[in-house]
Order: sequence, then C-alpha cells, then structure tokens
Amino acid sequence: MAKRWVIVAGVLVMSVAALRGQQTVVRRAPPLSAKETAAARDEPLRPQYHFTPPRNFMNDPNGLVFYGGEYHLFYQHNPFGATWGHMSWGHAVSRDLLHWEDLPVALREEDGIMIFSGSVVVDRKNTSGFCRPRGADPSCLVAIYTGFRPDRQTQNVAFSNNRGRTWTKYAGNPVIDLGLKDFRDPKVFWHEDRNRWVMVTVLPDQHKVRFFGSSDLKKWEALSDFGPAGATGGVWECPDLYPLPVDGDGADNRWLLDVDLNPGAPAGGSGGQYFIGRFDGTRFVNDNPPDRTLWVDRGKDFYATISFSDIPSADGRRIWMGWISNWLYANEEPTETWRGAQSIPRVLRFRRIPDGVRLVQSPVAELDTLRVPGPPTSIEHATPLPSGADIEMEVSRGDWKQAGLRLSNDLGEEVVVGVTSDPLEVFVDRRKARSVPAHAEYPGRHAGAVRWIDGRVRARVLFDRSVLEIFANDGETVITERVYPTAPLTRIQWVSDIGGGQATARMWALGSVWNAPARQP
Ligand code: FRU
Repeated sequence: MAKRWVIVAGVLVMSVAALRGQQTVVRRAPPLSAKETAAARDEPLRPQYHFTPPRNFMNDPNGLVFYGGEYHLFYQHNPFGATWGHMSWGHAVSRDLLHWEDLPVALREEDGIMIFSGSVVVDRKNTSGFCRPRGADPSCLVAIYTGFRPDRQTQNVAFSNNRGRTWTKYAGNPVIDLGLKDFRDPKVFWHEDRNRWVMVTVLPDQHKVRFFGSSDLKKWEALSDFGPAGATGGVWECPDLYPLPVDGDGADNRWLLDVDLNPGAPAGGSGGQYFIGRFDGTRFVNDNPPDRTLWVDRGKDFYATISFSDIPSADGRRIWMGWISNWLYANEEPTETWRGAQSIPRVLRFRRIPDGVRLVQSPVAELDTLRVPGPPTSIEHATPLPSGADIEMEVSRGDWKQAGLRLSNDLGEEVVVGVTSDPLEVFVDRRKARSVPAHAEYPGRHAGAVRWIDGRVRARVLFDRSVLEIFANDGETVITERVYPTAPLTRIQWVSDIGGGQATARMWALGSVWNAPARQP
C-alpha cells in the first residue's frame, strides 16, 4: 500500500500540474453515444448482471444505502481514466439491486483533496441540521468519507436534500483530523440503545479499528480501539460493524466486525477478514482468541465490502457488496476502457457449524428473476455455456478425488470450478484461463475448505463473462474470481473421476440487466 501511495502522490502532482497548465487534460469526458453505450455493454469481458462502471476506473463500493425506495451504490471512481486516480464517488441507483441506473459523479476531488471510501446514512431526525424538511419527513442523506491528501487523511461529511442527486460538502470539514497520514474509511450507523451515531474507522498501519461517537454527525469523540488481532500481514481498510442473528435466532445476536486487509489475504494480495463479538455501543469484544483469523472469501478477487444502511426492518436483510478485484493487478486488468466490477449483492447470516459460529453469504433472491424461464439444463456432456449462467452443482461422498466443471472455449482457454475429496475443498483453477501473457499474479488455483452435509457438497456457481462467484454449502465457503479469456467461454462439461450419479449439475441462463426490464422479485 505504501508503494501505491507513492505512485498516487506522483500522479496527483502530475494531475495538479496538468489542471493548472492545460485544463483539457482532466476535462470531463462527454457522455457516450447510444451506439458507443451499446458497444461498451457488449464487450466480451463486460459482465451482464454485475455492476460495472460505464467507463473508467472503479474500486470499492461506497455509501450503500436504501432511501425512498432506491438502493444507492456509490463507488471509488476515477472520472478521467481507467487506472486509479482523482478519486471521486461514482453513483448509480436501483430498485431491485440488479438494474442500476448510472448517475453523474456524486462527490468530486476538489482543492487537491480526493474522496476516499466511506458511507452514507439516512439522518432521519435531522440530527445534523443539514436536512431541509419536506412535509412530515425531516430526513436527508449524509455522506461520511475520507478526504485524502498525500500527507493527511481526515474524515469529512457532505449532505444531499434531493435523494442523493446533488451533494454539498460541509463547510466545517474535516470533522475528524488526527493529524495522521493513514486514517480512513468511515462507516457510520445509528446506535439505538445509546441514541447516537457510531463511526467505525481504521488506523491502517497500526492494524486498529477506532470507534467514534456523535450526536450530530459533526462533533465526534473517540470511544475505543480494537486490534491488532486476526490477520495483520498488510494494512487494515474498509471496516464495517453490525449485528446478525445466529441461525436466524433474534435472541442470539452477535456483532460482525469486518476488516479488509491488503496484502496478506489467503489467495495473495487483498482480501477480507471478520471478527465475531459483542458491541455495547462503545467497545467491541472479540468472541474468539485474538490470533484467530476468519476469512470472508477464499478467492483472489473480493475486497472492500460494505453493507447497506437503512434497509427497512420489514425486509430485515443485511446485504453487502464487494469489489471483484485485487490491488495486485487492479490497474492492469485487460478491460482497458473501464476497470472493476462489483459483486452480486449478498445476504449475510451467521450459522453455527461444527467449527463455531461462521458468516454465510448468499446472492440476493432478486437474482432469480433474471433466470430465463423454463426448466434448467442438466449438465452431463459438453453443453453450450450462456454468457450469464446460474449453476447448481452437487457431489456425493464416494470413492473419487476430484469433480469439476470446466468452462472453456475453442482456444483451449479454461477455468475449472470443482470439489476435491482429500482435502475436502472447493476450488477455482484459472491457471489456463488466458492464453496470452497475463499479469504474473493472475494465474492460480484458489481453494477453501468445505464439509459434508448429509453426505453431499453443494455449490452455486454464478458466471458472468469475466466474473465467477461460487457459494458452497449455501455460502459457508465463498470463492470470487475474475476470469479473462481472450475469447468468450462457450462450453461447460464435467472433468472428473467421479462415477455417474455422484455428481449432478443444472444450469439456468441468466438474462442481461440491459435487455430485461426490472421485474418484481
Ligand atoms: C481500499 C482503499 C481504501 C481507500 C480507497 C482509495 O481499496 O485503499 O482504504 O479509501 O481504496 O481508493
């Protein structure tokens, strides 16, 4: 990370010079024509039901919030190029978490301050005084983000009184300045029992989460620190904190503290870890020993998750999204005019398994509305693979070593998604996914432990041109990966030493969100 900031600082100096000298260098690009939009949406590596920026660079999801019937997705974005820089908040809204409408950049780099990751809350009671009440509703949206200068990171706020369409940065910014170079990624939520806002931040190089409290989103007091604990092989980033019931039991709520790590994740580079514990509004206490690390995802491409604020209690879901990439190669992905994809929104739960309480993740049920109507295709022999697919595979316990589904094309490029029996793991093997030289960190095989449940291992596999998300045993083990074949993967078949009847797979084609209008889930 330190290295990245050095590069970043260089880019920043260059761009400031460019701004002063030739305004045109960073002028906002004109909107794409209808023809260009259609072509961009149909690029061979462009996912069809995962969110991607229309063009230019995207990393972390930011400010996920539900407000007035809309889900908002803000994201780390360079409006001027397809590599990291000029960080601003891109913006899109959706009514079903699948069909996203792109909106103009919400928060822009200004006065040499970039807009780093953060969150958005609904200020229901106008505690901030930022809201201009309309009728009986006194609420507005407040964004809490990190302002970045090469030598200083501070927490800042901005507000919107028109459903996030335009934003005003607070004149009293920053709201927290510790004089630190590394202090970022504020996630804010309302703590009902204490009747105050809580902000969760990281001191990245100290491997600490620092909590703050406030009654008005403007004046903050430090509450406590958590860490170091778990994995500390890289900097800590993008924390989040919320309660989740264990096995759906509202009486047994534990708090999940999510902390991302770069580098040091199991598959290399960036990845997520989480802690399970108690939070009394001031202090987080870990239920597990400090050296226990729990990983969010076993693939190489799932980072910087953040959960939605303000999903109504009648819905009751806790949903997060993560960025499907890795800082090892995020700037060099072979998509060129745009870079970065967000995961399918995932519902989070705690489940008690033999090892203890663990996080499980599953795609939102809304995704099922994209399944092309009709019975699923049973995969027995080589079968045509649609560009978007939702596959359920199942293997039973027996005398076999490996059972995998191979997704391939005529160039011999392939990805295998499968299960090995000893050790019992699910894996994604993308070593042969790209026939031309790829980034050295890209080829690899990534695996995560699973368990037999009633003598079976099941996995749901989401494929979307260049994205794979695998949810094994209802999301007890998850693997998220990008795949970059030079031609589309068009065939799927079993490659295994497993006997007939011991492995089954059925597949639904998934429609593109650009062709299919939003349907009610
Ligand atoms: C995580 C991260 C955050 C930071 C943002 C900058 O990927 O490094 O810590 O706020 O990206 O783009």
